[in-house]
Amino acid sequence: MIILGIDTSCDDTCISVIKSGIRKEGARRRREGGEYDASRGVVKFEILSNIVSSQVKLHAKYGGVYPSLAKREHQKNLSVVFKKALRQAQGKQLDLIGVTTGPGLEPCLWQGVNFAKDLARKLNLPIIPVNHIEAHILANWLSPIRSKSKIIFPTICLVVSGGHTQLILTRNIGQYKLIGETRDDAAGECFDKVARILGLGYPGGPAIARIAAQWKSEIRNPKSEIKLPRPMMYTKDYDFSFSGLKTAVLYSVRQLTVNSKQLTIKQKREFCHEAQQAIIDVLIHKTLRAAKNYRVKSIILGGGVAANDELRKQFKEKIQKEIPNTEYYIPDTKYCTDNAAMVVATSYFHQKEATKNWQKIKVDANLKI
Ligand code: KG4
Ligand code: ZN
Repeated sequence: MIILGIDTSCDDTCISVIKSGIRKEGARRRREGGEYDASRGVVKFEILSNIVSSQVKLHAKYGGVYPSLAKREHQKNLSVVFKKALRQAQGKQLDLIGVTTGPGLEPCLWQGVNFAKDLARKLNLPIIPVNHIEAHILANWLSPIRSKSKIIFPTICLVVSGGHTQLILTRNIGQYKLIGETRDDAAGECFDKVARILGLGYPGGPAIARIAAQWKSEIRNPKSEIKLPRPMMYTKDYDFSFSGLKTAVLYSVRQLTVNSKQLTIKQKREFCHEAQQAIIDVLIHKTLRAAKNYRVKSIILGGGVAANDELRKQFKEKIQKEIPNTEYYIPDTKYCTDNAAMVVATSYFHQKEATKNWQKIKVDANLKI
């Protein structure tokens, strides 16, 4: 089955074409990895194209995403990205269209949905509406999941992106229970806001990660003198709060820069290191607590912040140390940040919901999992 996926939920115009299907279970294939479907075999996704047209340069001027500008860019980019995706897929005949209908920026979501409807009309194809959060989780199915046991469920999924920080108890694909989320800013938003305070541009996550790594590699004794809070780390629930962390950075920077003093390079590096570590500490602590309390078989990460190398590494170390029998899955970094391959993976698992009655499909900027 060939599925075309579209995602325009934020500032990236994403289209992907994937050949997907079940491979019969066999010893050789099991060794290679792949998601194990007990009754049928191994789900295999052959990625024919995965195009992401980024608007980062445009939004960098504003220090964040500007929705009306993003909408206009999607409008301009969609047909170009579509042609490129089809060309790379060598004109394979499509069977199905999956499109993100939420959550996200409403004007942007509509661009993708209307494009999908036009295509469905022209090619006489059904559409599957896709939840962006679920897609971030199911991005894990794109890379072969290498597991001895292939036992994944129940799992705790941590979705950390620019718009969301959620802990989701998952009993199977399609069976989700939100157990905690941020009460204010998302983790990615915190990276972006701290970067803005430090004058590092947008998106903040990769910039902070890069400079924090310099702090570690260049300072002999990387013991931070700047101390930032770990908000809500020890509360008994599974919620998060990151706006206080951003404010703490703002106040500390103000203190250090009175009388028009500039931050030194060393201080900037230290802020990046400490802010990143504060976010990592809270995310890991709460996720592991949920994993222990719900006695899950695995922990799964997804979303743009899951591309952070330190987060990936420290999660692995903590899981090995504290709950070594728990599997740990993260998508390739290119499938952590927004992409349409994850929309295809989600469409594949929801193919029974494909509809030719797509005229009724609407977007929902606040769609819940
Ligand atoms: O999932 P995503 O691409 O879009 C949303 O659905 O929001 O996530 C974007 C967020 C941004 O806030 C960006 O700063 C953050 O992910 N991000 C990172 C890294 N790469 C992207 N945060 C920390 N470290 C990274 N390497
Ligand atoms: Zn996203």
